[in-house]
Amino acid sequence: MAKKPKPLRLPLPKNSNQAHHAAHTAYIAATGGGKTTAVKKLDLIQRGAQVVFFDPYENYCRDKFKGQNVQRFTEFAPFAHALVSARKHKKGFKIALVKQATHSNLETFSSIVWSVGDGNKPLLNVVVEELATCSETSAKLKGKSGELWRGGRQFGLVVHSMFQRMQEVPKTVSTQSPRWWVGGLSSSADVEAISKARGVAPDKLKNLKTAKQNNGIAQYLLIEEGIDNVKSGTVNCKN
Ligand SMILES: Nc1ncnc2c1ncn2[C@@H]1O[C@H](COP(=O)(O)OP(=O)(O)OP(=O)(O)O)[C@@H](O)[C@H]1O
Ligand SMILES: [Mg+2]
Repeated sequence: MAKKPKPLRLPLPKNSNQAHHAAHTAYIAATGGGKTTAVKKLDLIQRGAQVVFFDPYENYCRDKFKGQNVQRFTEFAPFAHALVSARKHKKGFKIALVKQATHSNLETFSSIVWSVGDGNKPLLNVVVEELATCSETSAKLKGKSGELWRGGRQFGLVVHSMFQRMQEVPKTVSTQSPRWWVGGLSSSADVEAISKARGVAPDKLKNLKTAKQNNGIAQYLLIEEGIDNVKSGTVNCKN
């Protein structure tokens, strides 16, 4: 029988800072709805930011991200070293981990990212593609990945996660992400669920077109907290 891998010994995040606003962002749209392109082209993640990617399908590691080279790692140890040393400085960086989308890989990624949380350092944006494939339940997101959403804010961690359907979004993510980027949806169940959760009129959601349906231009709504909190926009997905 294969030996169980030893748990990683990692430090805890530092300097809990309640001044940070919650900015976790969920991206919800059918395939081809422009989620990945929105992360790349809109400024929900700002130019010059510190960004780490869970990148199972190599969506980010093959090109520059907002003008900066993306360092690509396929093993945890060198990935962790690069992240720890990059976090020693204030400058922006882009570091991607390319690993199969499994629960255990996401947990290890999340443990490493959690350990470099520091409320007194620049924000660290954490982009998680394929969370649905990696999470074993759509109820509460357990383990270290759940902790990123629940406790990350005070340690300067801002999580950006992508989903195709509302039923894939774990409760922890929907309740802990104040910002939702919503593109063309694939079913009326999604329209209803989003309308109910965020108080947006169903018609506004129903009419959104994916890039595939709209010559490469994806339509979206950005839903934030508060009154008058919905903005509409488009993102060009053509290469
Ligand atoms: N000229 C074009 N005409 C129509 N569609 C286009 C054009 N250029 C790009 N696209 C489509 O735009 C989409 C890009 O969207 P993107 O990859 O950001 O979507 P996504 O929401 O991340 O999808 P997925 O869930 O599959 O990852 C692709 O499906 C691509 O086929
Ligand atoms: Mg994508």
